[in-house]
Amino acid sequence: MSTLPVVFLALVSLLFIEQHVEARTTHWHSTGNGSIALEEAWTIPELGTSVAAPPLGQTSAELDANLLDIFNQRLAHMDATGVDFMVLSCTSPCIQGISDPTTAESMAVYVNNELAAQISSPSAGNSSSRFGAFAALSMHNASAAATELRRTVQELGFLGALVNDYQQSGKDNDTLLFYDQPEYDIFWNTVTELDVPVYFHPRTNVAPISTLLYTQAPWLRGAGQEFAVTLSNHILGLCTNGVFDRHPSLTVIVGHMGERIPSDLDRIDEEIARQKVLGMPMLRNVSSYFETNIWTTSSGSFSPALLQFHKQQIGLSRILYSIDYPFETMENGKGLLDELEGVLTQEELRQFARETAITLLKLQ
Ligand SMILES: *[C@@H]1O[C@H](CO)[C@@H](O)[C@H](O)[C@H]1NC(C)=O
Ligand SMILES: *[C@@H]1O[C@H](CO)[C@@H](O)[C@H](O)[C@H]1NC(C)=O
Ligand SMILES: *[C@@H]1O[C@H](CO)[C@@H](O)[C@H](O)[C@H]1NC(C)=O
Ligand SMILES: *[C@@H]1O[C@H](CO)[C@@H](O)[C@H](O)[C@H]1NC(C)=O
Ligand SMILES: *[C@@H]1O[C@H](CO)[C@@H](O)[C@H](O)[C@H]1NC(C)=O
Repeated sequence: MSTLPVVFLALVSLLFIEQHVEARTTHWHSTGNGSIALEEAWTIPELGTSVAAPPLGQTSAELDANLLDIFNQRLAHMDATGVDFMVLSCTSPCIQGISDPTTAESMAVYVNNELAAQISSPSAGNSSSRFGAFAALSMHNASAAATELRRTVQELGFLGALVNDYQQSGKDNDTLLFYDQPEYDIFWNTVTELDVPVYFHPRTNVAPISTLLYTQAPWLRGAGQEFAVTLSNHILGLCTNGVFDRHPSLTVIVGHMGERIPSDLDRIDEEIARQKVLGMPMLRNVSSYFETNIWTTSSGSFSPALLQFHKQQIGLSRILYSIDYPFETMENGKGLLDELEGVLTQEELRQFARETAITLLKLQ
């Protein structure tokens, strides 16, 4: 989404009165031994088309159609590849790409109501038990974000929230808000009180970053490089600015195999420890937050060798299956599970593909 159709934004407040959202809970019931996937994108026409590249062999039009769909091709691929349950969230940048706080807050409410209405619709029948939701949140104002999170969890049965990295802000769209600052403590207090996870997903297309870092090599924007660079900064910011020390029960999920952080923990711990004398507030080390606060997923990263390495680094109990549909195919995600047969024990495979998610999302 590079530009939001202004006319739609102007209509958003009018559209609220058209939305009929029944109070709902997540109607999960296991359909067997299928997988559970947590980083699965969805959108509404009002947010515009995707700027991301489709999977090889697909057109942008197919990608956009897949983002809008829940109960047709998405559900058919879930059945074909053994996905039991998907947690849907608004595709990047969603609300994090809206600089105006008032518009962002209204759009978040609109998007959340729309997702709740679609996945709890009577016409979806029993298929509604196959989907849950993470809330979209405007992060301009931490207490307003907390209020919307509480509403979506308590009234709509959402399972947590997904933020698309930093909140873009300012009239030139070039102020970036990071949630590792003390003014967000009020938000993290609500997150821990509700005891739900917050998933950190990457984003792109902010002028200062694109200009300063990628002008000479624009191919590095997005998923190949920029996503991991900017999102790992944000996650390490949460650690070093003491967010997990102030909120010890906070649950954060990071996709794409932890945006490379678990691959480099030795050096990260060693080098960041040297900042302590310069006043860094972090009380522990980054590795230790992967034992108490941070979980990762396999979204968009289907290498059994990397998973094995991260299992040694942070333990399999911190790694959950996810796909990143429709930017990745469910068939490729299933390919990882197939390749792990014989590499992991049946019990480990089941833990990775579904049991950890059932516990973390409190599905039972
Ligand atoms: C699920 O897997 C367990 C153990 O792997 C097996 O005992 C059980 O029968 C399976 N259930 C279904 C519905 O396939
Ligand atoms: C829907 O779910 C109910 C309750 O679990 C079950 O009795 C019914 O057979 C299901 N219908 C279909 C079409 O699967
Ligand atoms: C943030 O939102 C709250 C309501 O949730 C409001 O009382 C407060 O004034 C807002 N703060 C700013 C700086 O706009
Ligand atoms: C900021 O973003 C909005 C919405 O995407 C867009 O309409 C506007 O032109 C942008 N402003 C600048 C200065 O780039
Ligand atoms: C990180 O902290 C833990 C204790 O919380 C400690 O056991 C471990 O040795 C530390 N690792 C490094 C590399 O400093």
